[in-house]
Amino acid sequence: MMMTILRRALLGAAVAIPAMPALAQNWPERPITMIIPFAPGGPTDLVGRMIAEAMGRDLGQNVLVQNVGGAGGTTGANRVAQAAPDGQTILLHNIGISTAPTLYRRLPYDTLTAFETIGLVTATPMVWLARPGLPVQNFAEMVRFVRERGDAVNLANAGLGSASHLCGTLFQASLGVRVTTVSYTGSGPIYPELMADRLDIYCDQTTSATPFVTSGRVRGLAVTTAQPLPALPNVPTAGQAGMPGFEIAIWHGIYAPRGTPAPVVARLNQALRAALADPRVVTRMNDLGSPPEPVERQDPAVHRAHLAAEIERWRPILQAAGQFAD
Ligand code: MLT
Repeated sequence: MMMTILRRALLGAAVAIPAMPALAQNWPERPITMIIPFAPGGPTDLVGRMIAEAMGRDLGQNVLVQNVGGAGGTTGANRVAQAAPDGQTILLHNIGISTAPTLYRRLPYDTLTAFETIGLVTATPMVWLARPGLPVQNFAEMVRFVRERGDAVNLANAGLGSASHLCGTLFQASLGVRVTTVSYTGSGPIYPELMADRLDIYCDQTTSATPFVTSGRVRGLAVTTAQPLPALPNVPTAGQAGMPGFEIAIWHGIYAPRGTPAPVVARLNQALRAALADPRVVTRMNDLGSPPEPVERQDPAVHRAHLAAEIERWRPILQAAGQFAD
């Protein structure tokens, strides 16, 4: 009798162990939530929704976007850091995930141990923008305007540590000037203020800025790339406009809570790769001046190494700027 029970238990166990990989085969069995740590309508939201839809097609379950803005993206990141490690909650975040460890000295999670890295997505150029009524004709005049007026100039950003904040911090540091910064939960709420001449300048990613520039609703003054961008043919590079070396691209990656099972991480990475190889996604991303990352950078280990290197790269620059969130 005892032997029968034991044999049955062992048999049961034997079945269970092979079933673990089956987790990945049956997973996901319900829609997944992708947290975007900025407001709707901005560059992270735009890229996130595109990738979420395509990943959902590959996974056979919807990937639903939820915007959790605030504190330069750390509120949304923390939501995922605290989530169950079952793959049902993932995060799309930008370079801000690597600046937050320096700027937020009381960050509620440890960036390098709170997340599984799923893969890098894209690196998006930025463009300097001005309100329609700002009395400047080009980037060089905007720089002079900022030098002359200092904190009378207001510069928007998407919160301390966000990509737009980083661009503004590098700009002020390279000019040796401090302006007045005005923070929002993302680019989305910033454009109405810019178009209404209530904000002076903003540095945003080309993915969300391009339609506003090409339609003339805001003015594009300079792009932060070495070469001009086909999507913004009439906008010079910052280098051409008198600020050589002012180049910055905003990298984006996908994350899951630490402890998410390896087969699930592998399945999420597979879906990300499928999304970034999808011709509709590739065309759209290219049109927005932000092509998918090369295949070799879509690797979780490459992503993790990049994250660690970026935290170290920005630490001294941000410490020198001396702007901390807490
Ligand atoms: C957004 O809305 O996605 C933000 O503007 C991104 C950022 O500046 O980090």
